[in-house]
Amino acid sequence: MNVKRIQFDSFGNEQGQLVPLEQFKNVPFEIKRVYYIVKTVDDVTRGKHAHRHLEQVLICVNGSFKLKVDDGHSSEIIEMNKHNEGVYIGNDVWREMSEFTPGTVLLVLASEYYDTSDYIRDYNEFLDYVNSKN
Ligand code: TYD
Repeated sequence: MNVKRIQFDSFGNEQGQLVPLEQFKNVPFEIKRVYYIVKTVDDVTRGKHAHRHLEQVLICVNGSFKLKVDDGHSSEIIEMNKHNEGVYIGNDVWREMSEFTPGTVLLVLASEYYDTSDYIRDYNEFLDYVNSKN
């Protein structure tokens, strides 16, 4: 699957932790956009889309949630609860985020500016799209 975990160095002591993120160093693309999701509601599922081209790294900076990734052939649920671990998601991967605990902060680094035409928001359309490529 076009998904991989990235371990980040976390520099810290009793004063706290600091995690640097640098394009082409520990983030495998040029970072054109950053957004974050906060004040989430625990019974809501977010995402529910795939991207034709976009690459992203998701980091659960605080709290926890479950990340489901699905390439049309297999799926996996990743527990997101480490401030120093990112999950790279490449193109053609359906993703869903759920079971957010209160206070969760999800930071997302993205390889492109926001572009609604890059989204596939219908799961059956996603399956047709990935199967048409094989
Ligand atoms: P949405 O894609 O529905 O979020 P999620 O996949 O997490 O459920 O985006 C929510 C809103 O934010 C929607 O109105 C579009 C807007 N948005 C931007 O304007 N720029 C962005 O970079 C992103 C990711 C979303």
